[in-house]
Amino acid sequence: MNSKGLRSGWHLMFLVVLTCVGSLIAQPLVNPDTESKIDALLGKMTLEEKIGQLNQYSSTFDVTGPAPERGSSRERYEQIRNGLVGSMLNVVGFEATRRAQELALGSRLGIPLVFALDVIHGYKTMTPTPLAEAASWDLEAVEASARLAAREAAAAGLHWTFAPMVDISRDARWGRIMEGAGEDPYLGSVMAVARVKGFQGSDLSAIDTIAACAKHYAAYGFAEAGRDYNTVDISEHTLRNVVLPPFKAAVDAGVVTLMNAFNEIGGVPATVSSHLQREILKGDWGFNGFVVSDWGSIGELIPHGVAEDLSDAAHQAIIAGSDMDMEAGAYVAHLADLVRSGHVNQHLVDDAVRRVLRVKFALGLFDDPYRYSNADREKQEVLSEKNLAISRDVARKSIVLLKNEKGLLPLNKDSGTIALIGPLAADKDAPLGSWRAQAVTDSAVSLLEGMQAAVGSGAKVLHAEGAKLITGPRSFVTPSVYNTDDRSGFPEAIEIAKQADVVVMALGEDAWQSGEGRSQVEIGLKGLQLELLKEVCAVNSNVVVLLMTGRPLVIDWLAENVPAIAVVWHLGSQAGHAISDVLFGDYNPSGKLPVGFPHHVGQQPLYYSHKNTGRPNQQPIVFWSHYTDAPNDALYPFGHGLSYTKFEYSDVKLSSATLGMDGEVEVSVTLTNAGDRTGSEVVQLYVRDLVGSVTRPVKELKGFQKIELAAGATKEVTFTLSAEDLAFYTRDGEWKAEPGKFKVFIGTSSTEVKEADFALE
Ligand code: BGC
Repeated sequence: MNSKGLRSGWHLMFLVVLTCVGSLIAQPLVNPDTESKIDALLGKMTLEEKIGQLNQYSSTFDVTGPAPERGSSRERYEQIRNGLVGSMLNVVGFEATRRAQELALGSRLGIPLVFALDVIHGYKTMTPTPLAEAASWDLEAVEASARLAAREAAAAGLHWTFAPMVDISRDARWGRIMEGAGEDPYLGSVMAVARVKGFQGSDLSAIDTIAACAKHYAAYGFAEAGRDYNTVDISEHTLRNVVLPPFKAAVDAGVVTLMNAFNEIGGVPATVSSHLQREILKGDWGFNGFVVSDWGSIGELIPHGVAEDLSDAAHQAIIAGSDMDMEAGAYVAHLADLVRSGHVNQHLVDDAVRRVLRVKFALGLFDDPYRYSNADREKQEVLSEKNLAISRDVARKSIVLLKNEKGLLPLNKDSGTIALIGPLAADKDAPLGSWRAQAVTDSAVSLLEGMQAAVGSGAKVLHAEGAKLITGPRSFVTPSVYNTDDRSGFPEAIEIAKQADVVVMALGEDAWQSGEGRSQVEIGLKGLQLELLKEVCAVNSNVVVLLMTGRPLVIDWLAENVPAIAVVWHLGSQAGHAISDVLFGDYNPSGKLPVGFPHHVGQQPLYYSHKNTGRPNQQPIVFWSHYTDAPNDALYPFGHGLSYTKFEYSDVKLSSATLGMDGEVEVSVTLTNAGDRTGSEVVQLYVRDLVGSVTRPVKELKGFQKIELAAGATKEVTFTLSAEDLAFYTRDGEWKAEPGKFKVFIGTSSTEVKEADFALE
């Protein structure tokens, strides 16, 4: 038997096992009525039509215009008409989706297309980038934001978003860190659930919900040296304990699709990982939806060096459980031959098609393939007042106050002079962030506009750009070029800084500095920004820096020399208003970092939940785990974020010093708002498992509660822990908790905590 035969033979046995395991797990996607409809449909489909359902193309021709005359566009057009395309991405809007759907419905069996788009943080009304939103630690707000995106996208004819990205990332050099929920698997899991619920709602067939897609399965965020698409080589231990939990949480929350990843893990590209897709996802987790490849990732198996040609790539991908082929054209070109020649078992194709059809049935497309496209709803929904208000709300909740010496913030909006300086101050584009779907360029409320609206005829706002950040075009596909020599705006900026009572500096990253393909080895303030800041600080000591950014930045100089710093990320359409709400105290900041800000780029990857190592303790000699030229810890750690009020924590109380394997223990603190204004605090609970069969992190987030308290008010905050919360992937390869001693910590960040001890028995 040749290698192709071997792979499919092995697979058949495996599929039988899978089917038995899968059927034990109740999945909402699967119901007898739909399954029998799918059986009937499969019975009518030719092999080519089945494979067509597994073929996804991006829009390459104007679907609203006349049919293309020749070339690959014409070929794709004909394929849709012949039922050889199951899904399209990047076809957007009422008109275009309707016309493309008409084309598909004209095919022999008239199976509707499913339309997808990267609706990552909004369709046209932009909400904060996902990393920013994770800083809100506000699950309701995050769910509302995803729901808003779903409403707009669905009204514009879309059925499916390639979101949420649930990749854990601990390396700010990786540009796509902006697209996930940061460094922590627990926060990542609850954010994944909030987003899946937001997109999918409780009824996928409702006209205002869309299918979600947890991506990139798996470990895309662990690219070596933070370089996008680079090799990943992590252990099963890290895979199970850190990478997979958010995917598992999304599956348990009912996500109907997953996207696999460009990267390899330990020599096996994720796209052909049976371990990930067959064993874990469709086997252990009982996932009944479908897996889409990442863009062309089946074709990339050739440069990866694991497939000889596209046919070999298609063969390996279908066996490994990649159900839909995005843009490689591998399945549509080769799968039929592979089946006919006996290299791929027909059951594998049927299983993949069944999964795709399940989602189409669940979306209600067989009842009414046009149910999503609605010109009136599109007009009413997109950029509605309601949606803009939701965007502003989640935006202000996402702002993180890093530092506020001398109570410099909030600013007075009724009197005095404020100088607003910096390349991002009047920028109407940067706040839209990367991955902006259908957002209109330059459509965000700039900080300058927001501040002017907030002060009205009160405080005087002077504005100067100081220095440009980017020279040349800003584009999704080309690299950014930074201004390193044009200082012609400096004198005006220095002049207004001298005149002002306080200076607000808008610094950081342009929208296109982070996102796909935008890894960087330097993650500080690019161009002339730091130089400008230093000159401003020399003439005015009341400086507030607002950092617009997609990723954590290295800001050591700022931390030492600037009295107030807030991270304002890329906050979306209403950015300027949301930032002004915090700047002037109309909203008391409550965000907390979902990823630490390092002292130095050389610390990457950096995360609070590290292992202790065998040499953790500081020593007079050099032989302990540290850098000789930088600290080990973050400058601003995971979970850090200040408020304009002050919260005080009592000692930690436990309902019992022991926890039984089937029992629960209550862990509580008394939280007091000891300041003079109402505020919200994210109370964070961490644990440390002191001795395990494998090494355990020094701290792991296990819960949090966002509590609003009036000035002077006090509240008892209680968490309930059970053995399940303490489970991990053990040395025996089981997911379980091990008895022994634990520490539990409660506090305002991952480093400022109070602790207590208990034992799991
Ligand atoms: C990205 C995916 C995205 C896809 C479709 C790829 O390059 O990695 O996250 O969903 O393109 O646009």
